[in-house]
Amino acid sequence: MAQITDQISLAVATLNRGELVAMPTETVYGLAADASNEEAVARVFALKGRPATNPLIVHLAETSWVHDWAAEAGPDAEALMAAFWPGPLTLVLPAKANVSRAVTAGQDTVALRVPAHPQALALLEEFGRALVAPSANKYMSISPTSSDHVARQFAGDELLILEGGNCEVGLESTIVALLPGDEPRLLRPGMVSVASLEAVLGKAVVQQSGGVVAPGQHHKHYSPGLPCFRYGADTDVSHLYQASDIGWIFCGNAVPVSGKVIELGANPDLYAQGLYDALYRLDHDALSAIYIAEPPKGPEWQAVHNRLERAAKPLSS
Ligand code: TXA
Ligand code: MG
Repeated sequence: MAQITDQISLAVATLNRGELVAMPTETVYGLAADASNEEAVARVFALKGRPATNPLIVHLAETSWVHDWAAEAGPDAEALMAAFWPGPLTLVLPAKANVSRAVTAGQDTVALRVPAHPQALALLEEFGRALVAPSANKYMSISPTSSDHVARQFAGDELLILEGGNCEVGLESTIVALLPGDEPRLLRPGMVSVASLEAVLGKAVVQQSGGVVAPGQHHKHYSPGLPCFRYGADTDVSHLYQASDIGWIFCGNAVPVSGKVIELGANPDLYAQGLYDALYRLDHDALSAIYIAEPPKGPEWQAVHNRLERAAKPLSS
C-alpha cells in the first residue's frame, strides 16, 4: 500500500535507508532515490519496471550542486541555469568520472535539474544530496500529476508519497543537451519553449536528435490502459457522439456528446496542466475508449502534441 505524508522528516529518513519516496515537482511527481546510492538507484528501475538502458534525471537543490555531477558547465549551461532554474528544464551535460553509470545508463553524460516546487526543494535541502527521480509511474504508463495518481500507479507496492498538491506545469521537463562539439540540442520538448531557450542562448537550438538521444523517447509512452485516439479538425467523428461509453478530451471546442467530456480549454499552459489528470480520470471510468480533439499546431503546443503522439493513435480522416 502506498502511504501519503506531508512530513519532510519522514521522507528524509526513508531516503536515508536507501528506500524510495514519490516526490512532487512542478512538472510531474518523481520516484526519488539517493542518487549516490547504487542500491537505491537499482530499486527505482525495479519498482518502475524500467530498462536499465534508460538513464535518470538527477535533481539538485541548487545550481552550485551541478559541479558535483557535471564535468563541464560552460557559458550556455550557465545562462540556461540562471534563466530557468529552479524550473522545468533539464540539462544534459558531460558527466564527471565518479558519477554512477547506473544513473546515466552507461553514458558519459548526466541529466540535471533544479525543480521549482517547495516540497521538492525542502526535501532536497533537508536530505542534503541529489536525488534521481524518473516520473513516478510504472514503465510505459502516464506520468502522475497528483499524489492520488501516484497511489493508483503503485497501489500494490510499499511506497511513501510526499504530498505536494497538483503539479502546476503538468508535463515533464524540457530536456536540452549541451555537449562539447555540438550545438544545443532539444531532446524532449516541454513547457520551457524552444523560442525562450533560443532567446536566452542567442543562438539556435537544434531540434533533430542527431547522435544524442534521450533513450525513453523512441517508444510509445504515457499510454492509458484504454485505447486512446486523437483526431484533427478535418476528421469527422460525429458518428461517435451518441456513444455513452466514450471519454472525450476537448481543447475549447467541446460538442454535445453522450459520453464523458473533459474540456481542457484553448490555453496551452492550462491544457498541459490538466492533460494527464484528464487521462487518469477517463481511464478510471467504465469507458471503452478515449478520443482526443487535437489542439492547434503552433510552437506553444509543441510539448502537448509530443505527449499526445505518444499517448494516442491518430485517426485518419
Ligand atoms: O519533469 C521531469 O523531467 C520529471 C520530473 C520528475 O523531474 N522526470 C522525468 O523523468 O520525466 P523520466 O525518467 O520519466 O524521463 C527522463 C528522460 C528519459 O527520456 C531519459 O532517457 C532522459 O530523460 N535522460 C536522462 N538522462 C539522460 C542523458 N544522460 N542523456 C540523454 N537523455 C537522458
Ligand atoms: Mg517518464
